[in-house]
Amino acid sequence: MPGSAERGESQLESIYLPLLRDRGLVIAQLGQTLDGRIATRTGHSHFITGPADILHLHRLRALVDAVVVGAGTAISDDPQLTVRQVAGRNPVRVVLDPSARVPPDRRMFKDGLAPTLWIVRPQADPGPVPSGVEVLRLEAGPTGCGFDPGAVLQALAMRGLRRVLVEGGGVTVSRFLDAGVLHRLHVTVAPLLLGSGCPSLTLEPVDRLDQARRPHCRQFSLGDDVLFDLEFCP
Ligand SMILES: NC(=O)c1ccc[n+]([C@@H]2O[C@H](COP(=O)([O-])OP(=O)(O)OC[C@H]3O[C@@H](n4cnc5c(N)ncnc54)[C@H](OP(=O)(O)O)[C@@H]3O)[C@@H](O)[C@H]2O)c1
Repeated sequence: MPGSAERGESQLESIYLPLLRDRGLVIAQLGQTLDGRIATRTGHSHFITGPADILHLHRLRALVDAVVVGAGTAISDDPQLTVRQVAGRNPVRVVLDPSARVPPDRRMFKDGLAPTLWIVRPQADPGPVPSGVEVLRLEAGPTGCGFDPGAVLQALAMRGLRRVLVEGGGVTVSRFLDAGVLHRLHVTVAPLLLGSGCPSLTLEPVDRLDQARRPHCRQFSLGDDVLFDLEFCP
């Protein structure tokens, strides 16, 4: 019988080995309550999932070239998006902010810990741009849902950023999933009920259950939480 250390090691291999592919990787993550919320209605989200999932998130950051967040997360959480709990290089930070509404005092714009790419629409006025921050102007896609996630990934690939983590929030991850560009989605579910607040995924509606996505799924225990590792074929 394997001991707990060996079991832990093989769990680590099972989670991370599939992510070490040579080709590009687009993975998204969300930590949600049992009832599908990623923050309270006031935007409080630290922390829904436990320490094992936070460590997992830092490992994911260490494995990618770029980490993408939506404007909502940049405003509410003021995240650093750096690798702190494990050894590893900080990824390039990318914020999707069509109207340039994220205030310039956010840490990702100011701390200089990693390059930051601020993706805005051509008409937006981000004001004076701090050093270390690059503004990329992108046209909105044809769907009325902001930037085409495929075009965002293409712009990142042109900068050599081919391994991408979409870190939230729910709107941003949902758009990447609906666009069919994700290879994997890690959803960690915490045994917590909120009953209100910011939703996790909101996808294009379907009328019948046989139209729902049923990706290949593996499950792992992360402390009291459960990680669902979903695999897609973009
Ligand atoms: N538990 C977790 O795992 C987790 C992770 C991250 C964040 N959060 C929480 O989630 C909340 C924020 O999530 P959210 O779903 O409300 O917002 P969000 O996904 O962080 O940001 C959504 C906004 O980002 C911009 N955006 C995203 N994708 C875009 C695209 N393809 N094209 C153009 N613009 C795009 C849009 O800005 P405009 O509205 O300006 O068009 C959109 O409304 C916060 O409270 C945060 O604390 C939780």
